[in-house]
Amino acid sequence: VTIRRATIDDIICMQNANLHNLPENYMMKYYMYHILSWPEASFVATTTDCDMEDEAGSLTLENQSGSSIKLDPTYVNPGERLVGYVLAKMNDDPDQASEPPNGHITSLSVMRTYRRMGIAEKLMRQALFALREVYNAEYVSLHVRQSNRAALHLYRDALEFGVLKIESSYYQDGEDAYAMKKILDLDELK
Ligand code: ACO
Repeated sequence: VTIRRATIDDIICMQNANLHNLPENYMMKYYMYHILSWPEASFVATTTDCDMEDEAGSLTLENQSGSSIKLDPTYVNPGERLVGYVLAKMNDDPDQASEPPNGHITSLSVMRTYRRMGIAEKLMRQALFALREVYNAEYVSLHVRQSNRAALHLYRDALEFGVLKIESSYYQDGEDAYAMKKILDLDELK
């Protein structure tokens, strides 16, 4: 599995992985906004093991002459499949203009077959380093569902985020979120 910076060509697969793995989904233009505004902040994990099971499902299209093509929503390139992504940005909320520069993790997910291999932690460390080094973020924030044990462990135990507060009914289905924050220290992130 390779970790590399996300490009505009990856966003269809990132959106597909997000739809597959999380109930919080975004429009294509929001992915574009991230990649065009902060091109060095978001990362993808890919594999060339293209024999892996079709976890995200595939779509077969038949043309008029009767021949069919199989579209797999995780192929970023022929021979390269997306297995995880982190979508990150700087906080550009005008209401928080008095705050020091700070980053935000919008979305993170790893395809099920590839979990517990350290991929999410690597993606997060790359994004945190870039937010600090390239965009001068002094800290980074994110939201996570209270019931999301795996992500909570990742953020709190592996990456040492702190819980800032509980935002009640943050999610559309009424679940509360932990608002989490981590001070970015270049020496620690290197
Ligand atoms: N149970 C307990 N701890 C876990 C689990 C789990 N299922 N998964 C990860 N962790 C913790 C552990 O501390 C782990 O370290 P260890 O394996 O040495 O014990 C550490 O996180 C690192 O785990 P990774 O292998 O890097 O995590 P993975 O690649 O499996 O991805 C993720 C974790 C992203 C949460 C994955 O389970 C997933 O995609 N879940 C569905 C989508 C999701 O919940 N995304 C986060 C939403 S919040 C947001 O987007 C801002």
